[in-house]
Amino acid sequence: MASDYDKSIESNQDPIIVRYLDREMEIIFNLCRNICQSNKNCSIIDMGAGTGRAIFALDKMLEKDSVEFVGVEVSKPMIRHANEKKENHGRNPNNIKFLQLDLTDPNLSDHFDSERTNIVMCLYNTLGVIPSEKRQSFVDNMRKIAGTEGLVIITAFNGDDFGFVAPRLYRPMMPMIRKIDDDSFDEENRVFHNSLGFRSQWFTKTQLKSILHSKNVRPIPIEVKVEGKIQTFGNVFPSKEV
Ligand SMILES: C[S@@+](CC[C@H](N)C(=O)[O-])C[C@H]1O[C@@H](n2cnc3c(N)ncnc32)[C@H](O)[C@@H]1O
Repeated sequence: MASDYDKSIESNQDPIIVRYLDREMEIIFNLCRNICQSNKNCSIIDMGAGTGRAIFALDKMLEKDSVEFVGVEVSKPMIRHANEKKENHGRNPNNIKFLQLDLTDPNLSDHFDSERTNIVMCLYNTLGVIPSEKRQSFVDNMRKIAGTEGLVIITAFNGDDFGFVAPRLYRPMMPMIRKIDDDSFDEENRVFHNSLGFRSQWFTKTQLKSILHSKNVRPIPIEVKVEGKIQTFGNVFPSKEV
């Protein structure tokens, strides 16, 4: 799964996925740079880090050894693969660590140092794979870890346009999802699911603002050009203006 996962995301050459990831990372880099420039003890915590895609990219872009990175991941094979990538990352590996933790643990915030300026992020619609009954307490834990000085960043696929966006994102991700069934795209409930057990919930902007308890948050669109037209494939939701 860990290597299939990289084939579907980080090393996927499909132009839509490439553009999506580049733009997502550009937006996140700008947010992190603004926070980490004005704060000494900055930590970037990636919830559901997978094999470390975002952590390694941000470390290279920020070029700041003082920034600490923590990847939180439940899957041992993902963490093993992430640690292998760390060895070949080409930068000081000492400021990067991966922790095996469950995001749905009610005591998740106990594992982090509230004295640091924590940027707590959850990317690539990972929120959609957290069981619905545990989703709000997970986001509340992210907000607790970030505190008043830090920042929560959630990136999510565009649930307001599920019917258009979902097939264009999932079809190139076959190594990860493995199967698309006739009823995989549930437009009414904004869910992608298949008979092998893969399930991802998508959210509207209004839902995400409510989950973040932040009606005034301004989502930053992740735009991708398709057939000559710019389309919003996802959004980055920072918990406050930066
Ligand atoms: C869609 S992938 C996204 C990975 C990464 N955030 C990225 O942007 O490339 C979701 C990841 O979340 C992890 N995950 C799912 N549920 C989790 C949980 N309850 N606790 C910790 N990690 C979890 C999965 O193992 C997977 O690696």
